[in-house]
Amino acid sequence: MQIRQARPEELKSGIAPVSHYFGNAPTEENVRRFARVLRPERMQLAEEDGQIVGGASAFEFQFTVPGAIVPCAGVTVVGVLPTHTRRGILTALMRAQLDDAHERGEPVAALWASEETIYGRYGYGMAALSGEAEIQRVYGAFRKASEHGGSFRLLSRDEALEAIPPVYARVAAETPGMFARPREWWEGRALHDSEFRRDGAGEMVHVLLERDREGLAYAIYRLRMDFDAGSSTGEVRVIEAMGISPEATAGIWRYLLDVDWMERVQAELLPIDHPLFLLLAQPRRMRFRVGDSLWLRLVDVGGALAARSLEGDVVLEVADAFCPWNAACYSLNGAKTTEDADLSLDVADLATVYLGGFTFAQLQRAGLVQEVTPGAIARADAAFRSDRAPWCPEIF
Ligand SMILES: CC(C)(COP(=O)(O)OP(=O)(O)OC[C@H]1O[C@@H](n2cnc3c(N)ncnc32)[C@H](O)[C@@H]1OP(=O)(O)O)[C@@H](O)C(=O)NCCC(=O)NCCS
Repeated sequence: MQIRQARPEELKSGIAPVSHYFGNAPTEENVRRFARVLRPERMQLAEEDGQIVGGASAFEFQFTVPGAIVPCAGVTVVGVLPTHTRRGILTALMRAQLDDAHERGEPVAALWASEETIYGRYGYGMAALSGEAEIQRVYGAFRKASEHGGSFRLLSRDEALEAIPPVYARVAAETPGMFARPREWWEGRALHDSEFRRDGAGEMVHVLLERDREGLAYAIYRLRMDFDAGSSTGEVRVIEAMGISPEATAGIWRYLLDVDWMERVQAELLPIDHPLFLLLAQPRRMRFRVGDSLWLRLVDVGGALAARSLEGDVVLEVADAFCPWNAACYSLNGAKTTEDADLSLDVADLATVYLGGFTFAQLQRAGLVQEVTPGAIARADAAFRSDRAPWCPEIF
């Protein structure tokens, strides 16, 4: 068994193991779209007897964390063929991938886990939650009318490619958990209207809320129209909706909740502190299911702490069995120190609090952090606190 970097012509072989579990071999078009956003040197392959039996890849993200934007390995396309599982191949791929990210100076790696039991052993911690919502339109009234002063415009795909990215970029820059999307990402992924994803609904629709030609908010959605006994029972399926201000965000959701003929609005991958809870007159009527979203790995603990510009005086003792270069005591500024620890925890649990989506107090209640100096948990929480829940609006 050999673990090695892919050559450019091997992208398809590296995608094939995970594609197997989706029930399809990768199409040439899939491979072309991946080739625009994934560099072959960021794809690790497991080869046995001349056959590629596993792969693990990483996008190169500019990733928002509270107070900073950092390079991040966006882990993706991970799979081992069912003929070769439980022989340590994923572990070998993760070893190669994390060593590579470390050498490249990426302080963090992030991923969406197909199953929560897979990545903890490699030092990933659940770092963000997200929710899926369903709102019956009859219960879609807001407590207060919102004023955005703008107007809505439906966009063609080409218009969307120009008008939507600047709005996204403004939101992404201030939202932990989001990453910058280059043009290729918009073309090949975010605005790619794949037949596979329609699931009975119509084509991708793009709408922009604008004022004086400045984009304030947008939504990407599909309509799935149906009738029951002559009455319309349609559904608005929101793919992504966001705004640059509270008024704009309220405005775009008002739009989505006001589409005639639709019975309900359905949305996935929402932040768990979504303003809808406070905008809706009857928030209880919104069905909201919460689950894990981003998993985070602190590849370089010192670099990751330094990036957050944390203030305060707490010494963290970090254990890291998979990446031993991290195992040390740290000041909040990221410097390794020989001072005594105020609290000690595993690197995966530090990743859980790193984006501000969970607190040290929550870790303590789950028995996952040891407070050596009384008061250290509270001081660590004061330092790591973030104003908004981390949010990643897309599975990558
Ligand atoms: C998940 C997957 C990549 C694991 O590959 P693998 O080569 O079998 O993993 P390894 O043999 O290196 O397993 C390492 C350890 O993780 C455990 N493990 C692996 N996959 C697991 C899973 N899905 N659930 C629970 N434990 C798992 C193994 O039991 C092993 O534990 P041990 O060290 O205590 O013996 C593979 O099963 C797969 O391709 N699954 C379908 C696609 C998928 O889910 N990909 C991940 C996308 S995010």
